[in-house]
Amino acid sequence: MDYENIIFETEQGIATITFNRPKALNALNNALLDEFAHALDTIAEDEKIRVLVVTGQGEKSFVAGADIKEITTLNPLEAKTFAGKGHDIIGRLQNLAIPVIAAVNGFALGGGSEIALACDFIYASENAKFGLPEISLGIIPGFGGTQRLPRLLGKNRAKEMIFTGDMISAEEAMSYGMVNSVYPYENLMEAVLKTARKMAKKGRVSLRAAKQVINAGMDVDLGSGCRMECDAFALCIASEDAKEGTTAFIEKRKPEFCGTLSGTLKG
Ligand code: CAA
Repeated sequence: MDYENIIFETEQGIATITFNRPKALNALNNALLDEFAHALDTIAEDEKIRVLVVTGQGEKSFVAGADIKEITTLNPLEAKTFAGKGHDIIGRLQNLAIPVIAAVNGFALGGGSEIALACDFIYASENAKFGLPEISLGIIPGFGGTQRLPRLLGKNRAKEMIFTGDMISAEEAMSYGMVNSVYPYENLMEAVLKTARKMAKKGRVSLRAAKQVINAGMDVDLGSGCRMECDAFALCIASEDAKEGTTAFIEKRKPEFCGTLSGTLKG
């Protein structure tokens, strides 16, 4: 697929998807969503990719939400299909086996915040602003905001943001636990890539297991989550990565993780 609305790059096991409609503040139109979905599927099938970074083109915006000009043309059935498409793609993003970092470089509004919320964690630039402003358009969040925001921030903080439509700064988002770290704009990608490179060197099997257990465990009671962890721990022990990691410790050297259960892939 030729990408026109995103930039999709891979370097040393780290993929970067850059939302690329800067004249519309990287708003999510249907064409962009199709390209995003295609890139996510490509990443899911490529075992050499260890970490994904998502960010926005330009200094102003990560993603300013769904494309409002497209939304105005939708009838209710089309709106349901559009929301379903967004949920499907953002679900695929959340369920990728590899870690995903959102590098939020400006406005993350509506669908932009919803994408960031589905990533494993968020680093933001000092100029970043987060918000779910749909209420001011007479609609509500449609790509998961009413569900993921309360789970992350707590119900009351999320209600205040969704009912007022107000934006919050990167610093406020960090104080709410939504953003892990805040950097000057020019240092954001360097910080994101430093963390991405660190994770890319870890075992793929154990990273996948940790991500799956944390995500699935958040939706169940503690006992069920702990049982999932036992199963995943047992699976990890069977991996080449576990043999390499524990042997390297005993041999006092750095581990070199191969990346698959069979250990056949070098990457
Ligand atoms: N959709 C379509 N175009 C958008 C857009 C959006 N979400 N956000 C910005 N743009 C366009 C503007 O129309 C403008 O285009 P023109 O130059 O052709 O007029 C261009 O981007 C620059 O925007 P502004 O001139 O408005 O820039 P600003 O600095 O004055 O304001 C802003 C920036 C506060 C982000 C403002 O653009 C804004 O409020 N945007 C809309 C944000 C929003 O409501 N997002 C939610 C969308 S609905 C949604 O996301 C539903 C869902 O859950 C999936």
